Amino acid sequence: MTTVFLDGQFMPIAEAKVPVMDRGFLFGDGAYELIPVYSRRPFRLAEHLRRLQHTLDGIRLANPHAEAEWMRLIGEIVARNDGDDQSVYLQVTRGADTKRNHAFPAQVVPTVFIMTEPLVTPPPAQREQGIAAISAPDMRWLRCDLKTISLLANCLLRQQAVDAGCVETLLFRDGFLTEGAASNIFVVRDGVLLAPPKDHLMLPGITYDVVLELAAAHGLPAEVRPVAEAEARGADELWMTSSTKEVLPIVRLDGQPVGRDENAGRPGPVGRRMYDWYQAFKQTVMRAGE
Ligand code: PDD
Repeated sequence: MTTVFLDGQFMPIAEAKVPVMDRGFLFGDGAYELIPVYSRRPFRLAEHLRRLQHTLDGIRLANPHAEAEWMRLIGEIVARNDGDDQSVYLQVTRGADTKRNHAFPAQVVPTVFIMTEPLVTPPPAQREQGIAAISAPDMRWLRCDLKTISLLANCLLRQQAVDAGCVETLLFRDGFLTEGAASNIFVVRDGVLLAPPKDHLMLPGITYDVVLELAAAHGLPAEVRPVAEAEARGADELWMTSSTKEVLPIVRLDGQPVGRDENAGRPGPVGRRMYDWYQAFKQTVMRAGE
């Protein structure tokens, strides 16, 4: 049975219960992180905890744990559950109030929940063939840099992709690419990697940072700048990146093949190289015990 952490205690998942007056339940008032764990080692944990702090600051919620305490709790949840590769989910909400009231309660006791699931990365066939995506107007709010649990827009947008037999929805706002419903999006054009800048319109992905670091380390030209919708639609390659999808090629967008000539509708060479660099990097980090 899966063991989870809720409000200071480890317990079987079936015993974990949250009061109905919890503001996470009533308002989606909370922050979350999803941390991949390889060979029982959390990947880029300090960066995930830094992003959690950014979200908590953005929603005016005091961090209930110091960094070292988060690290200890996450280490313990990983140790208490099966599987070497896991996906740790943590959530902090503004806690339970006695009345439903939009304004914050005077006494805030945040609810802290941590669980872990087996890490499921894309199967090899999907990686080799690539995935299909659709696009939609980005109808979310203007603080997409915060990883909040209010994910209704993201859920609707991802479901739109699933209804169309696709994996992801690319989001465009005012003529520019922002990100995916639950991933960051990279564009390759003429051998140059293009990535939208980290601003309030997209989540600053941990995988996004790794991809840009790997591009720099391997001499792949990269430009971080606003990416016009037409540039994304005319891309040689499109990738989605996230902690669970890693680097996954998108080969069809709105039913049209991505890419040109013999690569049209097939994963491209730059994405294949980035995937290999990413895997090698993971191995190096795991060996170094980072
Ligand atoms: N989502 N953008 C959005 C909107 C996301 O939800 C995610 C990840 C990313 C990629 O971030 P990272 O590389 O740090 O995983 C970008 C996670 C996986 C989720 O909600 O399950």
